[in-house]
Amino acid sequence: MGSELTPIDKAKFVAAKQATEYVENGMKLGLGTGSTAAWFVTCLGEMVRDDGLKLTCVATSDETASLARQVGLKVVSLEEARWLDLTVDGTDEFDETLALIKGGGGALLREKIVATASDRMMVIADASKRVAQLGAFPLPVEVVPFGAAITGGLIQEMLIGMDVLGREAVLRMEGDTPFVTDEGNYILDLHLKHIGDPRRISFMLNQIPGVIENGLFIDICDTVIVGHGDGKVTVRDFTNNSAEIHHYDVRDDDNIFMDIED
Ligand code: A5P
Repeated sequence: MGSELTPIDKAKFVAAKQATEYVENGMKLGLGTGSTAAWFVTCLGEMVRDDGLKLTCVATSDETASLARQVGLKVVSLEEARWLDLTVDGTDEFDETLALIKGGGGALLREKIVATASDRMMVIADASKRVAQLGAFPLPVEVVPFGAAITGGLIQEMLIGMDVLGREAVLRMEGDTPFVTDEGNYILDLHLKHIGDPRRISFMLNQIPGVIENGLFIDICDTVIVGHGDGKVTVRDFTNNSAEIHHYDVRDDDNIFMDIED
């Protein structure tokens, strides 16, 4: 990443910065996956280095674990941590009920396990992730590689009669071969375009043999922090039903990624 912060980088950075306000010494934290979560991980690294904070972290992907170790965070397995105080992650979409679509980075399974093993789950995002109705972003579904095409067919059959506007299931590829998750599975991206009843779709997907987990996060996230390119941050916190606005003064030399190796 170059030294100039784009407005979208600034939005992600200020959202991540605001999330660090919830971090306390001694906490056990879940670390999300994706470009926004990476800002949070890097901010945490600064806090550990500069303020001597003691944190224990569980990563939702190998990529995040590697970044976290690089910035000096202690990373343990979920078994070692047992339970987490707070998980901070990005999202692909969120609606006004704080229901999410996640898994664009392919980490939805570990992300859902880690978020569910946390007292709180907080999402950090730029404003483009807010939607009136979930579904424009293709819904990722993690499936067992064995019979993945058959599983995809069963999913499409199940979607008949559901409140969706599309039923295409596309096997996620990485070059010429299927994308493989950290857990050794495949991802089917469902182009539903509109998800009228996310709770029902989530339940029905997880009944199909071969489906391991889907990217709908319902009643898991309790706080959404949205950053903007001008440094404004809005916080919607369902734990105390509050809505707050903050402002950060972001300079281009705030690019804390400059020190990180590619
Ligand atoms: C990873 O599997 C996803 O759930 C990410 O959290 C999501 O794709 C957000 O990524 P960005 O912060 O890069 O948009």
